[in-house]
Amino acid sequence: MKKLLAALLFVGIGGLHAQENIEIEKKVTALLNQMTLEEKIGQMNQYNGFWNVTGPSPKSGNAAFKYNNLASGRVGSMLNIRGAKEVRKVQEIAVEESRLGIPLIIGFDLIHGYKTVSPIPLAETASWDLAAIERSAALGAREAAAAGINWTFAPMVDITRDARWGRVMEGAGEDPYLGSLVAAARVRGFQGDDLSDPFTIAACAKHFAAYGFAEAGRDYNTVDIGLNTLHNIVLPPFKAAADAGVRTFMNSFNDLNGIPATADRYLQRDILKGNWQFDGFVVSDWGSLREMIDHGYAKDRKHAGELALNGGSDMDMESYIYLEYIQSLLAEGKVTQEQIDDAVRRILRVKFELGLFDDPYRYCDESREKSVTGSKEIIDAALDMAKKSIVLLKNDNQILPLKKQGQKIALIGPLADDKNSPLGNWRIAADNGTAISVLEGMQAYKGNTLVHEQGVRLVDKIPAGFHEEVAINNTDNSGIAAAVAAAQNADIVVMALGEYGFQSGEGRSRAHLDLPGFQQELLEAVYAVNKNIVLVVMSGRPLILNWADAHLPAIVEAWQLGTQAGNAIAQVLYGDYNPSGKLPMSFPRAVGQLPLYYNHKSTGRPGADGEDAGSVFWSHYGDEKNSPLYPFGYGLSYTQFTYSDIRLSSNSLKKGGQLIAEVDVTNSGSLTGKEVVQLYLKDHYASATRPVRELKGFELIELKAGETQTVRFTIDEQLLAFYNAAGQWTAEAGDFSLFIGTDATTKRQVNFVLE
Ligand code: NOJ
Repeated sequence: MKKLLAALLFVGIGGLHAQENIEIEKKVTALLNQMTLEEKIGQMNQYNGFWNVTGPSPKSGNAAFKYNNLASGRVGSMLNIRGAKEVRKVQEIAVEESRLGIPLIIGFDLIHGYKTVSPIPLAETASWDLAAIERSAALGAREAAAAGINWTFAPMVDITRDARWGRVMEGAGEDPYLGSLVAAARVRGFQGDDLSDPFTIAACAKHFAAYGFAEAGRDYNTVDIGLNTLHNIVLPPFKAAADAGVRTFMNSFNDLNGIPATADRYLQRDILKGNWQFDGFVVSDWGSLREMIDHGYAKDRKHAGELALNGGSDMDMESYIYLEYIQSLLAEGKVTQEQIDDAVRRILRVKFELGLFDDPYRYCDESREKSVTGSKEIIDAALDMAKKSIVLLKNDNQILPLKKQGQKIALIGPLADDKNSPLGNWRIAADNGTAISVLEGMQAYKGNTLVHEQGVRLVDKIPAGFHEEVAINNTDNSGIAAAVAAAQNADIVVMALGEYGFQSGEGRSRAHLDLPGFQQELLEAVYAVNKNIVLVVMSGRPLILNWADAHLPAIVEAWQLGTQAGNAIAQVLYGDYNPSGKLPMSFPRAVGQLPLYYNHKSTGRPGADGEDAGSVFWSHYGDEKNSPLYPFGYGLSYTQFTYSDIRLSSNSLKKGGQLIAEVDVTNSGSLTGKEVVQLYLKDHYASATRPVRELKGFELIELKAGETQTVRFTIDEQLLAFYNAAGQWTAEAGDFSLFIGTDATTKRQVNFVLE
């Protein structure tokens, strides 16, 4: 092994530049030529580590060490090993004791920060601030890289239209345009410009594909969507991640139109490795090879291995099926040597790019870990990101921002002093109870009198983590009286309500989306004595807030904002940060509306809420509006913005040409503020039906009171292209409308023709 390393070290291993690529390919080939079949198969096997199991645990314990697997080169990667010291231990076995000394690639779910927790990805997306999102990913990577990790299972780029699905917290919401830009920003953040930089890590676009379309929002459920939705809605963020250079993909648990994604050749071989020429590797999801038996697709484990490798899965996470069966499958001609070599080549390529062959311990420096973890730069960035993620949903009579002096404020609710829930799900490396609570954040403002009452407890039993169901308190509402008493004497009541930190995330689908437990009862009891309520909603998904919207003067969506949550919330409530977030998902009025999304198709019998359609025979509900309570792209500020009419450079666009659309946006309020100016397009008719409108551009601007800025968008054919009835990505001639405004419902419109 040492000889091999020495041979490899003579050329510096760099990033992704052409010359270096050639060098890396040569090294991969040289190494492949030395490997036995068993060693190759070992590279295709990924074992879980010792703790924080993020899937159903293997009964057998730490499989990586059983039968001396690491030392005999039967493991290519491990997940859920963390800490410079712990990673070094396993790396040492792989490097020093196995015949060829091939280093492990160490994977981890760095979903929103490592030890320092940043806002959940859905919340970060609400900032629409791509530079901030990229920075957040980069700093998360820096902290994780210092703790031995060199590969994250992120970003999750699944488009989701159904707030019942618990994993909406992990993604960028419902829109493929915004989702694509966020996907690319996160990939750039994790990977930087140079993967061999020890402060960057390899990223993973997941879950390929269509996992977010689980039927009825129930996690792991079947997905049945057509090519139109697959190509126009689901795939663009994956393509954007691939274009941004993401080095790995993870496939998904679901079956898609009858084929489990783990074995989907069309997705993995035709589209990803074929059309998109992706040259990184594909890892399966946890045990997803073996789950093909339960799907009713594979006859047994061996058959699952055959299907997965033929389908394009390169690495087996926690099924141990490749390890067990590839040799015999090869002997029987069920898989080919080329497929095995290709998978191993891809895995080794990424290991070389990471510089692991230069120095397998480059991520295992304990002193670096100490100085990087929780550094001021990382904490400050987490606070900055948290403030930017908050969305102001309602603010009647400018009840917000709160006055800083002379007020009696009652802070009520089970989440007010919760130092755990703001960390959200997937905060694996963070210590429990390390978030700044809303109470602590508000206590920093000393000019007011602050009283605090929990009111009701949200959970009966604090779940241990990933494996336990959340036990919501549905029996004890005895604290409501004290909360009401506190509210009675207050000028303003701030209520921190929402979801417990583990109520969203993997396996956390919900059939009901209102405030869980006794929170609604608490809210109404407090409202009966004091109507000056500012509701701070802390949730991992859109909740149904109809009552609150109808009765309360102010609502703030504060998601799960991570380590700095309470400081961010307090600074927004007190006006030290003017909220600027916009919703990345529609907020429903009723669960029965789901899936709900702004970029839906028109029906043959369309109609809008409140329109007298003249009969019942149009597409609507008899007992609820069609529209969401709060639309995609919506969010208020403490200042106001006014828009001029749209100026369009021409009302016809020639093939190969461009149009310029402009608006003047004025801050007509009295505070400096930020606005996300949004561009939507509607293609009136086409060879395959098109959405009623689609986001196709946005700009985040900051204006001082009274200031005006002209915002310009360029429209070209590429922006109008879509996956059409003939399966081509192209723009079709015809009539278009263009809208610019503050959210997806904007009516400010001009029309043009694509000739
Ligand atoms: C299962 C999840 O679906 C996936 O997103 C995650 O990366 C793996 N477990 C590993 O924890």
